[in-house]
Amino acid sequence: MPNELARVVDAASLREVVSAWRSVGERVAFVPTMGNLHAGHYALIAAARSQCDRVVASVFVNPTQFGPNEDFAAYPRTLDADAAGLAAAGCDLLFSPTVNVLYPFGPEASVRVHVPGVSEGLCGDFRPGHFDGVATVVAKLFHLVQPDVAVFGRKDFQQLRVIERMVRDLGMPIEIVGVDTLREPNGLAMSSRNQYLSADERERAAEIHRTLKTMREAMGQGRARIAIETAAADRLAQAGFQVDYAAIRRADDLALPADEERAGLVALIAARLGRARLIDNLLI
Ligand code: PAF
Repeated sequence: MPNELARVVDAASLREVVSAWRSVGERVAFVPTMGNLHAGHYALIAAARSQCDRVVASVFVNPTQFGPNEDFAAYPRTLDADAAGLAAAGCDLLFSPTVNVLYPFGPEASVRVHVPGVSEGLCGDFRPGHFDGVATVVAKLFHLVQPDVAVFGRKDFQQLRVIERMVRDLGMPIEIVGVDTLREPNGLAMSSRNQYLSADERERAAEIHRTLKTMREAMGQGRARIAIETAAADRLAQAGFQVDYAAIRRADDLALPADEERAGLVALIAARLGRARLIDNLLI
């Protein structure tokens, strides 16, 4: 039986619903999304549900986290289907603001949140300004929703670290929960951008997960990190990917590990196949 899903688009209505819950002592979990929801998102809703009495999800395609040549305009917008899915997944409230609600002075003139360190390198090098856009919109959403808990997927590993650090640095009283990546049967990490892939590309895209596994295995065998990264990038290039990076970093702060470090690490890949830029990672 689907949940009764309330839908709001403005900050005042959002506050009214959330304050009513808080006034009777209910705890609130929040799942920010850009919509076009799939099973991976619904797993975040389930995790949120298990932590708190109430679950709020937002759907907002955030302009400030897209570069000028990225897919902001093409990003799939499927709000009614998302609302139906959220109701079935047990979400209580959908917040789907317009750009004006989140950026009253326009996206260009907005306050910007920059999280130094973890925003740099990896996707930060290939998508300049992306994590500033993410941190900015998530900070705005956190201020509006004021959740006790916020839930993010571990597929966007660097994003999760950026948010965790922002929350600590700004003293936001929000517990950040990371949820494991959901995969297709062939190992491909679920993502809204998978729909840019043809059937053949979807099969080939599973090479990313296989490559991550070889990186983890090679680290276990004591091979040099740089050789492992180079071999992984070559393997992907041979399979037809345009590789942004195949990297091994410390899992807690994404810094470069020392040669002898073999645990507490994460292997990360970002690569393009056809129209899709895909990211994935595996803990070591
Ligand atoms: O992971 C996403 O979908 C987005 O980056 C987020 C966290 C909703 C911010 O726009």
